[in-house]
Amino acid sequence: MNPVRTNEGVSVAPDRTVYLLPGEADSQAGFAAIRAKASHFRNAGAQVIVVQGLGFVGVAVAAAIAAARDEHGKPRFFVIGVDLPLPQTYWKVAKVAAGETPIVSPDQDLPQMLHAAVCEVGNLAATTCEEAYALADVIVVDVPLSVGERTVESPQDITIELHHFHAAIRAVGRQMAPEALVLVETTVPAGATEKIVLPILQEERHRRGVTAPLHLAHAYERVMPGPRYLASIRSFFRSFAGIDAESARRARAFLTAFIDTQQFPLWELSDTTSSELAKLLENSYRAANIAFIHEWTLLAEQLGVNLFEIVDSIRVRKGTHDNMRYPGFGVGGYCLTKDSLLAQWASVHLFDSDVTLDMTLQALRTNYQMPLHTLGHLSDLLDGELSGKTIAVCGVAYLPGVADTRNSPTELLLEKLEQAGARPVVHDPCLTTWPEAPHIVLASDLATALRDADGVVLAVPHRDYLNVTAEQWTTYCRAGQAVVDAQNILDDHTAERLHAAGCRLRGVGKGHWHKRGYSCHKLEHAAS
Ligand SMILES: NC(=O)c1ccc[n+]([C@@H]2O[C@H](COP(=O)([O-])OP(=O)(O)OC[C@H]3O[C@@H](n4cnc5c(N)ncnc54)[C@H](O)[C@@H]3O)[C@@H](O)[C@H]2O)c1
Repeated sequence: MNPVRTNEGVSVAPDRTVYLLPGEADSQAGFAAIRAKASHFRNAGAQVIVVQGLGFVGVAVAAAIAAARDEHGKPRFFVIGVDLPLPQTYWKVAKVAAGETPIVSPDQDLPQMLHAAVCEVGNLAATTCEEAYALADVIVVDVPLSVGERTVESPQDITIELHHFHAAIRAVGRQMAPEALVLVETTVPAGATEKIVLPILQEERHRRGVTAPLHLAHAYERVMPGPRYLASIRSFFRSFAGIDAESARRARAFLTAFIDTQQFPLWELSDTTSSELAKLLENSYRAANIAFIHEWTLLAEQLGVNLFEIVDSIRVRKGTHDNMRYPGFGVGGYCLTKDSLLAQWASVHLFDSDVTLDMTLQALRTNYQMPLHTLGHLSDLLDGELSGKTIAVCGVAYLPGVADTRNSPTELLLEKLEQAGARPVVHDPCLTTWPEAPHIVLASDLATALRDADGVVLAVPHRDYLNVTAEQWTTYCRAGQAVVDAQNILDDHTAERLHAAGCRLRGVGKGHWHKRGYSCHKLEHAAS
C-alpha cells in the first residue's frame, strides 16, 4: 500500500491517481465538516469511532463498523478514519473520503459498503487531523509495528520499529476524550498494551490534567484480505482483553455492536498480554506449519512421489491433520513474516525471559529461504545457466487474488535471478505496479510475459492462472522452455501436454514429474 512514487506536495496512489497534499487550512476546513457530521450523528444516538491507520486492516475495519445498524436500522456509529498527511499515505485518506477503497480486493462487499457509507449514509469520513481523536467514544488503533531484519540468528538480533507506534499512541493520548476507550488492534509484542501503550497514554493524559480512569483493551484482527475480506471481520471469532474489568466490558459492548457474536461468540482472555500472545502464537503456528512441510517437500521430490496427493490423503483426518500445509513457493505478507519476532522480542525486552523460541525462529528462516528451492529447480532445468536468460515470474502478491505485495517471496527470487545475470519479466493479474519494487515494469498479460521467456516460474496460484486451460498453456509456452510450477497450478494432464510440446518441467512437491522424465527434453527422455 505504498505509493508508486512520491513527489513533494503530492501523493500518488498505486492506480496512478495524483492527490495534492492538503495545506493546514484545507485540512481544518475538511475537518470542520467532519466535526459537524459527527455531532449530527451523535445527536441521532450514534457513537463516534475513530480508526487510526487506513491500511489493509483499518480501511476494512472502518467499513465494517460503519455498516453496523441498530434494531431500527439506524447506523450505530459515525466512523472517522485517520491517516498521516504524507506523500506515502495521504492517497488512502483521499480515496476513502471520496468513497473509494484504497485496497484492491476480490471482495466486492468492500467497495460497495465503503461507497455506501461515505456517499449515501454519510457515516464514514477520513481525515489527517489528529483532533479527530478528541471526538471519539472509541479509538481503534490499526497502525503498523514492523520489525527490522526478517531473519535473525539470535533473539538479541531482533529489532522492532517502535518509534512510529509510539508516535501514533502519543497522538491519541494528546487528544482523546477522558472517558474514551482505546482498542489496540495492531499486532504488538506480548505485554505491549500494559508496558508500552498504557504508560504513554497516562503520560499524555497526565500532562493535560486528565484524572478519569483510562479504558484500554486489546482485540487482535484476523482479517483475511481475500474474497471474504469484510466477512472475516464481521462474521468471525474474535478474542480480546481489557486492562481492567470496565475496559473489557466496554470492549465487549463495542465488538458486539458490529460483529455477529451470536454465531461467532467473543472470547475474552484473562489479560491483554494473553490476547497479544494469542495473536503471535496463532501466526507463528501457521508459519511453523508451512516450514514443517518444506523438508517433506524435499524428501518427496527425491523419492519421486506427489506430495499434494499424499497430503490430501492425510487431510481427511478431520480435527488432527486437516490443516496440514501443501508444498509451496514461500511465505510473504506483513504478518507471518514478523509476528514470531515480536513474541521473541517481547520475551527479551519486556519480560527479561531467557526462553528462546528456537523452532519458531527456524521456521521463519526456512520460510524466508523457500523460494531458493524453486530457483534451484529452474537452474537445474536450464543446466545451471541463468545468465542472459529471460525468466517469466508469474505472481508477486502473497496470496492469490490480493494486491498485497509486502515481503513477497518473489522479491528474493528476483534478487537472485538478477544477481545471476538473468532478465526477469514479472506478471501478476492483481497488480499494475509493484509498490516495493517500482523499477520493475509488470507485463500486461500472461501470454506476453511467457512469449519470449527461456524459463517460467509459477509463483502464486491466482485464479487467472488456475483458469488457464491445458490448451492455452501449450500455446503460451514454447518448446525448449523450462517451467517450474511452485504452486500446483498445472495438473498432471497439463504437465504431460507441455512436456509433449517440448517443455522441461519441475513442480515443487511433485517428485512424480521428475520420475516421469519431465525434467528432460522429450527426446532426451525417450532416448534414456
Ligand atoms: N494485513 C493483514 O492482513 C493483517 C491481519 C491481521 C492483523 N494485522 C495487523 O494489523 C496492523 C495494521 O496492518 P496493516 O496491514 O493495515 O498495515 P498498513 O501498513 O497497511 O496500514 C497501516 C496504516 O497506518 C498508518 N499510520 C501509521 N502511523 C500512523 C499515525 N500515527 N496516525 C495515523 N495513521 C498512521 C499508515 O500510514 C498506514 O496507512 C499490523 O499490526 C498488522 O500486523 C494485519
